[in-house]
Amino acid sequence: MDVKERIDFLRKELSEHNHSYYVLDESSISDFEFDSLLKELQDLENKHPEFRDVNSPTQRVGGAVIDGFDSVSHKYSMLSLGNTYSEADLLDFDARLKKLTDQPIKYVCELKYDGVSISLTYKNGALFQALTRGDGTKGDDVTQNVKTIKSIPLKLKGSYPNEFEIRGEIFLPISAFEKMNKYRLAAGLDPYANPRNTASGSMKLLDPKEVAKRPLDCYLYYLLGENIPTNSHFENLQHARNWGFKVPTEIEQFDDINGVIYFVQNWEDKRHHLPFEIDGIVIKVDDVQIQEEMGFTAKSPRWAISYKFKGEQVSTRLNKITYQVGRTGAITPVANLASVQLAGTTVKRASLHNADQIAKLDIREGDIVYVEKGGEIIPKVVGVELKDRDLFSKPTVYIKNCPSCNTELIRTEGDAKHYCPNQSACLPQIIGKFEHFISRKAMNIDSLGSETVELLIKEKLVSAISDLYLLKIEDLLPLKKDGRIWAENIVNGINESRKVPFERLLFALGIRYVGETVAKKLSFHFATIENLLNASFEELISVDEIGGKIAESLVDYFSEQQNKDLIAQLKSHHLCFEAIKKAGNLSDKLDGQSVVVSGVFHLYSRNELKQLIEKHGGKNVGSISKKTTFVLAGDNMGPSKKQKAEALGVALVSEEEFLQKIS
Ligand code: IVH
Repeated sequence: MDVKERIDFLRKELSEHNHSYYVLDESSISDFEFDSLLKELQDLENKHPEFRDVNSPTQRVGGAVIDGFDSVSHKYSMLSLGNTYSEADLLDFDARLKKLTDQPIKYVCELKYDGVSISLTYKNGALFQALTRGDGTKGDDVTQNVKTIKSIPLKLKGSYPNEFEIRGEIFLPISAFEKMNKYRLAAGLDPYANPRNTASGSMKLLDPKEVAKRPLDCYLYYLLGENIPTNSHFENLQHARNWGFKVPTEIEQFDDINGVIYFVQNWEDKRHHLPFEIDGIVIKVDDVQIQEEMGFTAKSPRWAISYKFKGEQVSTRLNKITYQVGRTGAITPVANLASVQLAGTTVKRASLHNADQIAKLDIREGDIVYVEKGGEIIPKVVGVELKDRDLFSKPTVYIKNCPSCNTELIRTEGDAKHYCPNQSACLPQIIGKFEHFISRKAMNIDSLGSETVELLIKEKLVSAISDLYLLKIEDLLPLKKDGRIWAENIVNGINESRKVPFERLLFALGIRYVGETVAKKLSFHFATIENLLNASFEELISVDEIGGKIAESLVDYFSEQQNKDLIAQLKSHHLCFEAIKKAGNLSDKLDGQSVVVSGVFHLYSRNELKQLIEKHGGKNVGSISKKTTFVLAGDNMGPSKKQKAEALGVALVSEEEFLQKIS
């Protein structure tokens, strides 16, 4: 056997043993033998650098320290999942989906692992790249750290697609977490809070050798790509298992929602006996074609949802109910509690949601209440211990006036919250709007902090957001002793922000339901603020992924004179209210055209076709209207869509015809 053959043999042998031990949980060799084979391979690789391979088992010990992670765009966005909390929610989900397809729906249930999500790309059977979720569009390249996780294969077995992505969750088993903390305590260090944070902290380490020391593990649960083996999510995962991935065995297929409910109930108790933490169940439509048909909202797939288990609960005294005013004027009642430990943190305040919730649970000051940590960061009050209630306690009377400006609160039908309508003069609303406007993901004016904003407002130097752009260094000098540099920084920061692109400016305006992703969609679709301002409700909802709630909020926002004035003012200060045409467009062949993509395609995935439409200057819209230029129609397009297109005289274009159009 020559050297290269021996190296190949050792690599294959070691990765087989690795797979047995870390994926199958079976030991196929003694530690001693494993280490001596690894040592032999290491020596050969050192002597023969010409045979180096970045995916050799020797790479698992971790390479050199790096200075930071590269930010890389995801080929398919990494979305989150909508949450459900009850059987009724699950039945709603099922009913909703049945309206989206005529075919019978099979469900797959999986555990919801509580760790950090990861997206792995494999090319020609070798790990190519590992990205964190990041903001969903771009993530950090943590390939070097991921290579140290022994259950993640560096090379695949069997017959796999040339290129694909597989997503999963990196986590720390409970026993490993406890062991790490035992060592930390013995060494006089603070213990880690919980396995989830420890796993996510580990991925952020810049020293892969340090990551290699942490016994992280990874379950894979979602296969994506152009050539995935079958049309069933469940089957695809079984294939992935044969390629060497650690695919959970606690996964089941059901013919209807009753099976799902059974699965959820079954795990409610059983979850406490698992060797790792889960925070719920994930329910997915099994059929990949139906998944594609159902598509995504701006934040999550329509074809999957998570069922959240109730979090850990503790009881404590509710000392006082206070009320917070948010930037939109929404009032949130807050429970001020006798401090208590909950899931590793000290809790002093909890959300009471709204007036109905307080009334429903009959929550009163002085009560002993149950506090729970759900998926959200802020804990919530979920119940009252009535037997401990003080004899003289009085029911809570919800406030009628704003706790800050005393304006009478309003509550519109169908809205759970009370609002203070005094948008222009209620201090916390104004401060909140400024804080949002200057925040990192909006205008990113980091020379201005919350305290300075409050000071500027109190000193009457600004009242509307647009006033920021009138500030001069001289205006600021009296506010701080020796503050010239401070003042210069602020004014420079504000000036710089004029360059912020339209999509972020739109997000910065703080329109209800217009988050980062929606702002991006709107900016791309409408291109200018005028187009957006003049868009009707119907035009707005026809945009791909824009629903009724968002459209209504936009129409409301733009109908208010005060908001129109604000935009006019900002415009006069030369802020950017026009989307810059994306560089790298392939052509303008579809300029001004609105396209609906529907059905199943052969040459490209739906996602790729949508990208092609945008790259050639066109726009993707979600529903057919008389403004639709054409429908890009694949197989199995829904009959109702077909009828609508015919009735409105909108042309159906096949995949081949479309490709010709843009070629
Ligand atoms: S599927 C488009 N399956 O939950 C579907 N996610 O809230 C994408 N998670 O970001 C996710 N266990 O980090 C899926 N069995 C599972 C999961 C799971 C945990 C996490 C994942 C995701 C988050 C969504």
